[in-house]
Amino acid sequence: MTSRPVHRPDRRRAIALVGGGVVVAGFGLPGCSSDYPAATLQAWQAPPLDGDLRRFMLAHGLLAPNPHNRQPWLADLRRDGEITLVCDKDRLLPQTDPFGRQILIGCGAFIELAVIAAAQRGHRVRVEPFPEGEPGANELPGGHVVARLLLTPDPATPRDPLFEQIRRRHTHKGAYDNSRQVPAELWQQLGAISRERGLLAGEIFDAPRVDQVRRITRESFEAEVTTARTWLESAHLLRIGPTEIEQHRDGISIMAALPRFMSSIGVFDRFEVPVRGNSNFARVMERWLPHETGSGYHWIASRGNSRRSQLDSGRAYVRAHLLACAAGADMHPLSQALQEFAEVRPQYDALLRLLGFDAAQTTIQMLARVGYGATAAPPTPRRDLAQLVRA
Ligand SMILES: Cc1cc2nc3c(=O)[nH]c(=O)nc-3n(C[C@H](O)[C@H](O)[C@H](O)COP(=O)(O)O)c2cc1C
Repeated sequence: MTSRPVHRPDRRRAIALVGGGVVVAGFGLPGCSSDYPAATLQAWQAPPLDGDLRRFMLAHGLLAPNPHNRQPWLADLRRDGEITLVCDKDRLLPQTDPFGRQILIGCGAFIELAVIAAAQRGHRVRVEPFPEGEPGANELPGGHVVARLLLTPDPATPRDPLFEQIRRRHTHKGAYDNSRQVPAELWQQLGAISRERGLLAGEIFDAPRVDQVRRITRESFEAEVTTARTWLESAHLLRIGPTEIEQHRDGISIMAALPRFMSSIGVFDRFEVPVRGNSNFARVMERWLPHETGSGYHWIASRGNSRRSQLDSGRAYVRAHLLACAAGADMHPLSQALQEFAEVRPQYDALLRLLGFDAAQTTIQMLARVGYGATAAPPTPRRDLAQLVRA
């Protein structure tokens, strides 16, 4: 289990889908815990160091950050000494991620954590991305072999110092302390991780540009939540209360008591699409406010937009997040402006202009706010290892 204390959400009479993953909504009911059911957090317990190596790797891989906590991966273990990672066609986000770019970033993060875990057990891993060919640029990657991981025992393999952070890393979606600045050295280290892997990366922490990014992310969030098909995609992934959370162990989890009650009596209708100006929209935007806190933003981009560069971005992103975690800092991707549906194109173009990129040459793969959360972030549910293994 994570060594950090569990975050208690703030108590506000509001509920919203805020950008993927966990939504916190506390309503001040005494005695009502918002902690997830213990079984859904089992995956965060350390697996035995002497157990089956490939399952040890997978047990770390599945803790990867991934869009909407879809956990879009399957692992085929039928070839000895290898893991064949397949993108699960039933765990995609066709509306908000129509080409599976973000899904593959999540798969890249999975690979990186699995490789770090193998090193801990004295094994080198040769990663062969898309051994059967890359999915087409405008195709969803479901069912494609994402990578083959070939294992070689080698006691000289250096242990990765970031291993210790894997079970401590959680995406912090709450308010950050605006008075604390990320040190220049940490910004530099975060960017270096991507640049060493042939990606572009950098940081935005000067006040005028931070303001611009806040506006861009807010406007893209507004566009996402007021567009019926993208709102509804998230609404279908809402897991309200312990029964739904235990049943699915993915998506956007809500444990607080009053939303559960409101949902059960039909006062809160998850399928009601917010409309600019109505009260539902106002509540949703109120929940956005903490996302405009923090020291600045870390971004990752690639020349072109190959499937391989998407995997590489995921590998680099999770390393950056682990590094931030080691330094006591928090990270939180804000992806709405980067998504490929038409309604957020103006915001994507604004972000490209801000970073001085040309859309024809460069793709922004990740944008994450960085800072120091007022409280520690909670672990999010994961499905059992057995559900992703094909043996
Ligand atoms: C490609 C990608 C995009 C993401 N975009 C968002 C986002 O827009 N908003 C958000 O709150 N979280 C976003 N996340 C974070 C996920 O919601 C989070 O990783 C997931 O819920 C699992 O939680 P954990 O990272 O704490 O383990 C993103 C993660 C990835 C890998």
